[in-house]
Amino acid sequence: MLQGATVVVVGAAGFVGANLCHRLLALGVRRLVAVDNLLSAEADNLSDDPRLSFLHGSITEDRLLARLPPADCVFHLATYHGNQSSMADPLADHDNNLLPTLKLCEHLKVAPGLHKLVYASAGCTVAEKTFAAADATREDDPVSLYLDSPYQISKIVGEFYGNYYFMRHKLPFVKARFQNVYGPREVLGAGRWRGTPASVWRNVTPTFIWKALAGEALPVENGGIATRDFIYVDDLVDGLVACAERGEPGEVYNLASGVETTILQLAETVNRLTGNKTPIRLAPARNWDRSGKRYGDPAKAAERLGFRAGTPLEDGLARTIEWTRANAAWIGHCIARHRRFLAEAER
Ligand SMILES: NC(=O)c1ccc[n+]([C@@H]2O[C@H](COP(=O)([O-])OP(=O)(O)OC[C@H]3O[C@@H](n4cnc5c(N)ncnc54)[C@H](O)[C@@H]3O)[C@@H](O)[C@H]2O)c1
Repeated sequence: MLQGATVVVVGAAGFVGANLCHRLLALGVRRLVAVDNLLSAEADNLSDDPRLSFLHGSITEDRLLARLPPADCVFHLATYHGNQSSMADPLADHDNNLLPTLKLCEHLKVAPGLHKLVYASAGCTVAEKTFAAADATREDDPVSLYLDSPYQISKIVGEFYGNYYFMRHKLPFVKARFQNVYGPREVLGAGRWRGTPASVWRNVTPTFIWKALAGEALPVENGGIATRDFIYVDDLVDGLVACAERGEPGEVYNLASGVETTILQLAETVNRLTGNKTPIRLAPARNWDRSGKRYGDPAKAAERLGFRAGTPLEDGLARTIEWTRANAAWIGHCIARHRRFLAEAER
């Protein structure tokens, strides 16, 4: 379905978006429209393939929505990155996380020829709130009404809107619930300062790799007992393509490795792979994150989409380390742009 297709990717310059765009071009799409307001992304992350055209701005702007071509498939990856920044500025989260989903659904509900609207949701919205042993999160697990951040609320309410537009307007909305994605093209410090150090440090994997390559102590919170399900970005992109090609409208699929890894294991592996000899530094637990242990159940996506995340963590980390080394000057430049804010926020 994607070969020869016209595809729109919203949030295209971001980490997952950029990897997805490169894959779509390799798969032979005819035309790719990349939308991004560069809030947490760098335009340099985008391919210069002539089939790709870049629309710079927020997808919530009517003038920008009006410029979208009739598309066979739309991937919606825009978000206000991430949990901590959303707590610092819930209204900015609303404007760039939930509102984009509603505006897109409203715009696309009458789009003729649209085969799929694939929505990036997040496994953390349904994860159990526990630091004891957790079961793998399944797609039909209940959703708590007491979530830990505006980011999580926006993500799950985005699913609610998608379900409504599917039921009411037959919008072919497919939900992909990501676990913790890592890999090349996640640029630390990408985009604008969003009120917290997470504007720079983003997720645990790129942070650990960057600090380990600099020979710094990796900060491990709460003894590193928390667990996550780390999924390599190429696998995740396989899952997004599978959602577009074989996902059932109205359905939800976990895009997960199904493997639970402690943060301590991650830190030790990164130190070993980078040759960082500096001992880890223990840090206090985060005071907001109650889902200490979590991982996703990959069974439904395997059965219904034929999707399996096959990259072992060590292989994915080795590739990400190599990419980080090769792009250190660029990443360092993006981090440095926030130096003044970061120093104040970390004081
Ligand atoms: N990376 C993960 O581990 C992970 C886990 C669960 C869910 N997700 C979801 O996957 C998607 C992609 O995440 P990512 O890690 O690539 O984050 P990212 O921050 O790199 O990408 C998000 C992109 O959205 C853009 N954006 C923000 N507001 C916008 C707006 N109003 N209009 C247009 N573009 C806008 C940003 O500039 C950025 O390029 C997000 O929806 C995120 O919630 C990611």
